[in-house]
Amino acid sequence: MKVLVVGGGGREHALCWKLKASPLLTRLWCAPGNAGIADVAECVGIGAEDVAGLESFAVAQSVDLVVVGPEAPLVLGLADRLQAAGIRVFGPSAAAAELEGSKGFMKDIVSKAGIPTAWYGRFTDIDAAKAFIREKGAPIVVKTDGLAAGKGVVVAMTLDEALAAVDDMMGAKVFGAAGDELVIEEFLDGEEASFFALCDGRTAIPLIAAQDHKRVGDGDTGPNTGGMGAYSPAPVFTDVLRDRVMEQVILPAVRTMAAEGKPYTGVLFAGLMIRNDTAKLLEFNVRFGDPECQVLMARLKSDLLPVLVAAAEGRLDGVRLDWSDECALVVVMAANGYPGSYRKNTVIGGLDAAGAVAGVTVLHAGTARDPEGAVVATGGRVLGVTAPGADVAQARERAYRAVDALDWPDGFCRRDIAWRALSR
Ligand code: AMP
Ligand code: GLY
Repeated sequence: MKVLVVGGGGREHALCWKLKASPLLTRLWCAPGNAGIADVAECVGIGAEDVAGLESFAVAQSVDLVVVGPEAPLVLGLADRLQAAGIRVFGPSAAAAELEGSKGFMKDIVSKAGIPTAWYGRFTDIDAAKAFIREKGAPIVVKTDGLAAGKGVVVAMTLDEALAAVDDMMGAKVFGAAGDELVIEEFLDGEEASFFALCDGRTAIPLIAAQDHKRVGDGDTGPNTGGMGAYSPAPVFTDVLRDRVMEQVILPAVRTMAAEGKPYTGVLFAGLMIRNDTAKLLEFNVRFGDPECQVLMARLKSDLLPVLVAAAEGRLDGVRLDWSDECALVVVMAANGYPGSYRKNTVIGGLDAAGAVAGVTVLHAGTARDPEGAVVATGGRVLGVTAPGADVAQARERAYRAVDALDWPDGFCRRDIAWRALSR
C-alpha cells in the first residue's frame, strides 16, 4: 500500500516510524515531514494545510491511504476532498472535526449523548457571558469556541480573572474570530489523562491512555505548552475506568455523531479529568495527541496500517490490538524560550549517541537539515526522546540518559516527566 502521512511534528514521525514497519507498506510519503521523518519516509514539500495541494498529490500518486496528523487540515475539509476524489482517508470529515473545531458544538453533542462532563453555557454576548460568570462564581473556566492554537482556555481561580478573560477573548479579540463565541464551564478538579479510541463512523475500539505534561516547567509550573512529555500506561487510568469510558464517553459520542449525520471516523482523543475513579470529559480532539502518540506507537505491537485502513473503511468490528506490557516515556526537547519566542536554526549534535542508548528512538518534531547537512531546530518543540522500560523508572532513566547524550545548548527539557506515576 502507498501511504501519505500529513503533518511534520513528533506525532507524524511516530506514525511514520510505526507505518514503516508494516509488511503491507510499499511506499511512504510525509507532507511536509521533517529531518527525522526523512529517515523513514519520502518528505514532500506540501504544507499540512494546503488542502488542494495534498489532494492533487494523493490523486497523482494513486495513494491508497492518507493519514492526517493535525486537526487544522481536517477542520478545513481535507478528508472530505480526498473522499470525493476516491482516496481512502484516516481522519474525520470537516463536519465531524467540529468536535475539536468548535467547543460549543462539542459541548452540545456531549450533552445530547449524556456524557459526564462540566456544566456549561455558550455566549456570543459579552454582558450575558459576564452575568453567567457572576451567577456561577469562581473557580470557573473560560474558553474560546474556535481553535486558538491550544491557548484559548483560561482556568480562572477568581471572578476578576474570569471577567478579564471574557474581555480579552471577546472584547479585545486576542485570539481573533475564535473568540466570537465563548464557552464558560464548570471547573473540574482531579488528575488529567488522555485516552484514545479508533472510530469507523459506527463503532469504536479502545487504544490506550497516556499522561501528558502541559506546563513548561518542572513541578507543573509556568505557561501551558503543547505538551512537554508523556508516558503510558497512566496508572490513574485503570482497566475498569477504560471500560467505563468506552461505554459512557466514546461509544455514546460515536452513536450521537452518526445520528446527527456526521459520522466520526479516525482517532478520537478524550481529554479526561479523573477523580475518585470517575472520569469526566474535558474535551475531544480529532487527532492523536502530541506527544502522547509517541508513547502509544512505542507500545503498539500490532501492525498499525491494516487497522487504520479498517477504520477508514468502516470495518473496525472485531479488530483487536496487541500492546506491549512495558512502559514507554517521551521527553520533549524544546528550544530555549518556548512557549515564548525562541531562536531558529541552532545546530543539534549528539543525535547518534542519544539514539544509541538501549531502546531509545529520537523522534523529530521541529527539525530540518541546513545546507551542510547538519540537523537544525526549526520549531518550539524540537525532539521527542522516546524510551521503553520494564517500568516507568527504567523508561525514564533511559530517556534522560539519551537526553544527556545530546549536544544542544539552545534546547531544554523538563526533568520530572512521569512524576505522578513515580510518586504513587
Ligand atoms: P483544552 O485546550 O480544552 O485542552 O484545555 C487546556 C487545559 O485547561 C486542559 O488540559 C486542562 O488542564 C485545563 N482545563 C480545561 N477545561 C477545564 C475544566 N473544565 N476544569 C479544569 N481544568 C480545565
Ligand atoms: N498533548 C496534548 C495535545 O496533543 O493536545
